[in-house]
Amino acid sequence: MSAGLVLEGVGKNFGGLKAVSDVSFAVPEGAIVGLMGANGAGKTTLFALIAGNERPSEGAIRFDGPRIDGLSPDRVVKKGIARTFQIVRPFAGLSVRDNVRVAALYGRGGFAGSAEDWVAAVLDETGLAEQADKPAQALTLSGRKRLEVARALATRPRLLLLDEVLAGLTPTEVAEALVMLRAIQAKHGLAILVIEHVMKALMRLCATIVVLHHGLKIAEGTPEAIAADPAVIEAYLGESAAHA
Ligand SMILES: Nc1ncnc2c1ncn2[C@@H]1O[C@H](COP(=O)(O)OP(=O)(O)O)[C@@H](O)[C@H]1O
Ligand SMILES: [Mg+2]
Repeated sequence: MSAGLVLEGVGKNFGGLKAVSDVSFAVPEGAIVGLMGANGAGKTTLFALIAGNERPSEGAIRFDGPRIDGLSPDRVVKKGIARTFQIVRPFAGLSVRDNVRVAALYGRGGFAGSAEDWVAAVLDETGLAEQADKPAQALTLSGRKRLEVARALATRPRLLLLDEVLAGLTPTEVAEALVMLRAIQAKHGLAILVIEHVMKALMRLCATIVVLHHGLKIAEGTPEAIAADPAVIEAYLGESAAHA
C-alpha cells in the first residue's frame, strides 16, 4: 500500500448534478500537489469528500492504505488530515490564540512539549504571534487566511488541504504566504493538497498539478506540462470566452 492519500474513481452527485466524476490521483507522503480548475469545477467538493464533510457517491478514498471515505470529519482529523475553508470560519469572538487552542484540542495531540508550547509554535510559524491576543474578527483578510492555516496546522496533520488561502491577497501577501507555506511544509514534512486560482503561485509551489473541469480530471502533470496541455488551455480559454 502506498503511503499518503489515494483517490480511486471518486464521484459525488448532488441530486442530478455530478459535481465530481471518476476522479483518481494520489498525494504521496510529503508531496505538494496543486488542484486547479474554474469556478464550479468540483475542487471544494473534493475537499469535502476527503475531509469527511460529504460522503462520495462512488469510488474510494484511502489514507496510508485503509479507506477513510465515510468517516466523520473528526475521525479524519484524528487520522492526520486537516482542511481550511474557502470561506474562513474562525470563532470570531475568540482571540486568535484561543482559536488555535481549540483546534489543537480537537486535533491529533501528541505534541513534543506542552499544548501551550505547540500553540505558540503554530502562531509563530503562521506569522500570527503578534496578533495572538486580538479577537479573530479584528484580523485583515490576509490574517484571517493565516488563521485558517494555523487552525488546520494546530491539529498536527500529515496532510494539509488548503482551499484558496491566497485568494484576495495582494501580490506581496501572496509572496509572504508562499514563504510561510514552504517553511511549514519543510519543517513538518507535511503533504499538501492546494486549491488555488492564483495560477502562478500554484506553479511555483507544486511539483504536480491536477486539473478538474466540470467534475472530471482532465490533466495531471508538472506545472510546465499543465501550462502546455491543450485540454487545459481549451478549458480555460473556453471559460474566459464564455464569461467575455
Ligand atoms: N452541497 C451542495 N449541494 C448542491 N450542489 C453543490 C453543493 N456543493 C457544491 N455544489 C455544486 O457542485 C459544483 C462544484 O462546486 P464546488 O466544488 O464548490 O466547485 P469549486 O470549488 O471548484 O468552485 C457546483 O456546481 C456547485 O454549485
Ligand atoms: Mg471552491
